[in-house]
Amino acid sequence: MGRFTFPAWVNSLVLPGLGLIGLGVLYLSVLVPYALSPETLVAGYQPTQPVPFSHALHAGQLKMDCRYCHTHVFDSAHSNVPATATCANCHNGSKAPDGTNSTTAVHTESLRLAPVRHSIETGESIEWNRVHDLPDYAYFNHSAHVNRGVSCVECHGRVDKMDVVKRVSPMNMGWCLDCHRHPTEHLRPLEFITKLDWEPPQGQTKKEVGEKVREDLGIRSLTDCSTCHR
Ligand code: HEC
Ligand code: HEC
Ligand code: HEC
Ligand code: HEC
Ligand code: HEC
Repeated sequence: MGRFTFPAWVNSLVLPGLGLIGLGVLYLSVLVPYALSPETLVAGYQPTQPVPFSHALHAGQLKMDCRYCHTHVFDSAHSNVPATATCANCHNGSKAPDGTNSTTAVHTESLRLAPVRHSIETGESIEWNRVHDLPDYAYFNHSAHVNRGVSCVECHGRVDKMDVVKRVSPMNMGWCLDCHRHPTEHLRPLEFITKLDWEPPQGQTKKEVGEKVREDLGIRSLTDCSTCHR
């Protein structure tokens, strides 16, 4: 019995076939674990931080505006995490010449603030753990949202009630696109972007307020792949 031979045209499939298998392996070995790891997708991800800094205390109770610390969120793609110098405005451990604490210093002996004092003295920055981190192939921009009527609360939830920041949205493509297709109900007047507990005025719905903002600012529905993959 003669050996079965593949017809010659099969050869032309071998290379692309191997390529596809290669891509498949790459996808399974790199992208899938990446997509499934808690750092990329899961809502609820909440790493512990080197200092027990509380947004519920600083942004909630003390009513500090987000911009006091996240100074670049309105003018850059990235929203910076503050340098220790910002904390030092209130938590500077250094004493006045008579040995008392300076008037603005709060809890200067606190053990919980020891890493902050160490950072002030040495100039070494505090290594905060990232709560949100999109894959590099997706482009995100803070200023494009907060100057266009989208509040922090739409994506980060009630940070002003969190002792430890937690991710509340999946931050995957479907989630981005849901809002890009139907942004109206997620829009509010610009003066309330960092006011997380904002409610529409009496007698108006979120939708009505959103429609007005959408018209005034000319908000588009951006769903082209190139919006987020450049
Ligand atoms: C007193 C300074 C301060 C204020 C005010 C402040 N933050 Fe922060 N924020 C921080 C620090 C420090 C971190 C890094 C540590 C952490 O995650 O808690 C942070 C982290 C975050 C993160 C997580 C970033 C990441 O790693 O992905 C979000 C989201 C955030 N802040 C939102 C807000 C919002 C919204 C407001 C206003 C309601 C606000 N912050 C007010 C200091 C501040
Ligand atoms: C505008 C002033 C101000 C700034 C700026 C500020 N804090 Fe505070 N912080 C306070 C006050 C006030 C308290 C104490 C509230 C209380 O105990 O009633 C406090 C309490 C704390 C505590 C709890 C201390 C303890 O022993 O319970 C920590 C930790 C802390 N802050 C970290 C930080 C960090 C980190 C930063 C910088 C990212 C920062 N704070 C920026 C005013 C500030
Ligand atoms: C449209 C959704 C959206 C809005 C609105 C938004 N954020 Fe974010 N935020 C994100 C995403 C997505 C990331 C992760 C970005 C990355 O990994 O490149 C992020 C990351 C952050 C970080 C970590 C540093 C960084 O830039 O990666 C901070 C701090 C933060 N946001 C604060 C804020 C504050 C404060 C506001 C409101 C003034 C705000 N965000 C509004 C979606 C949003
Ligand atoms: C809650 C609503 C909402 C969510 C969630 C959201 N966006 Fe947006 N996005 C908007 C609005 C509104 C605009 C502004 C549209 C305009 O300027 O007309 C915008 C604009 C952008 C722009 C700027 C495009 C440009 O060229 O001006 C980028 C990039 C972008 N979004 C990426 C993302 C990514 C990536 C995510 C998910 C991680 C995301 N967005 C989640 C509402 C949202
Ligand atoms: C509004 C922003 C936005 C738009 C528009 C968008 N994407 Fe994405 N895309 C993302 C984000 C964010 C991620 C990464 C988060 C994740 O893992 O889903 C992503 C991930 C992907 C991935 C990797 C997914 C995986 O499972 O590994 C592919 C492929 C992709 N996008 C293709 C596209 C194509 C094709 C289009 C146009 C039809 C498109 N995207 C439009 C935001 C966007």
